[in-house]
Amino acid sequence: MPPIDVRGHSLMYDDGGDGEVVLCIHGFPFNRSMWDEARLALASRYRVLSPDLRGFGESSGSESWTLDDQANDLIELLDQLGIDRVAVLGLSMGGYIALNLARRYPERLWAMVLIDTKATSDNYDAKQNRLKTAETALREGAAPIAAQMLPKLLSPANADDQRLIERLNSMMLTTNPKTIASAAHAMASRPDSTPYLSTMALPSMVIVGNDDQITTPNDAHAMVAALPHASLVTIPDAGHMSVLEQPEIAYGAIRVFLEQAQQG
Ligand code: MLT
Repeated sequence: MPPIDVRGHSLMYDDGGDGEVVLCIHGFPFNRSMWDEARLALASRYRVLSPDLRGFGESSGSESWTLDDQANDLIELLDQLGIDRVAVLGLSMGGYIALNLARRYPERLWAMVLIDTKATSDNYDAKQNRLKTAETALREGAAPIAAQMLPKLLSPANADDQRLIERLNSMMLTTNPKTIASAAHAMASRPDSTPYLSTMALPSMVIVGNDDQITTPNDAHAMVAALPHASLVTIPDAGHMSVLEQPEIAYGAIRVFLEQAQQG
């Protein structure tokens, strides 16, 4: 797909398949290539749309932004493509943006899949760490951020998977340090979505890697308990990147969930 101009930025996106639209929102500091398996697994039944968020991957944008900005970009992208409603899949930071969409644009969503993410906002220590991340990225580039994150991303079961490690590293190391800093500030200032969960009446599924140490199974349980129509899938031998670590299990569950959500 050629890039599309969205609110003053050039957004790159993959768009394939036919049917109801599934919008995939990547995590931090990754890009749309983390959804390659989603396209393989879902594009026979759905139109799968996976953008590089502003500033990430091949999309432009180096000034600071908020998660509201990222959500607004996605709504504008849907408007420009003439798409009314989507099922949204969001991993981690992508989940924070999916929750933002569910809070601010509920009429645009027919289903929501929250993957390795949480509804709560950052506590004081987490905010301080974000500030350090931003400073380090601006001073030293993406490499120290990737080095800090990598050991926390995977289950011990996948810690020696060199192909996966290379794939994660290549996404993290190519992310613009200014984008890393913007994302760190944006995530630090995101609101707590917990009070809104009970108002999110759409069919929802929460997926978590059993060994996720960044957004834990407890975070996933808390969202499922508060969302009116949510189910939980816990993926064995998976950490924070569950859809990359165990794609067959994860997308098998997502396919079944989307079919049920469509049938209402
Ligand atoms: C992500 O994977 O998007 C990040 O780990 C989210 C976060 O740092 O809160």
